[in-house]
Amino acid sequence: MPKMTFIERDGSRREVDAPVGLSVLEIAHKHDIDLEGACEGSLACATCHVVVDPEWAGKLSEPTDDEEDMLDLAFGLEQTSRLGCQIVMTEDLDGLTVQLPKAG
Ligand code: FES
Repeated sequence: MPKMTFIERDGSRREVDAPVGLSVLEIAHKHDIDLEGACEGSLACATCHVVVDPEWAGKLSEPTDDEEDMLDLAFGLEQTSRLGCQIVMTEDLDGLTVQLPKAG
């Protein structure tokens, strides 16, 4: 099974199992990682914001316009920011690393 790594707000890294077909948000919830995801993936919030490791950013499919619009509302936006509920795990993303944005 692929794995992915979350870098938590305190800088600690957690490598977790990342089943194909689940979103980064769902994977975070499975492992009690502190990513909110208030709208549960319906692109109506920005609380599932993650900053993708620059090495991985180019391997993800492009964000949709709706995702871009919602990301504009996220705190701590960075070049490689994405919405965790829109990144769906595939075999090719084995090793994906994302960082939780610094609060506020
Ligand atoms: S959970 Fe709301 S946009 Fe991702």
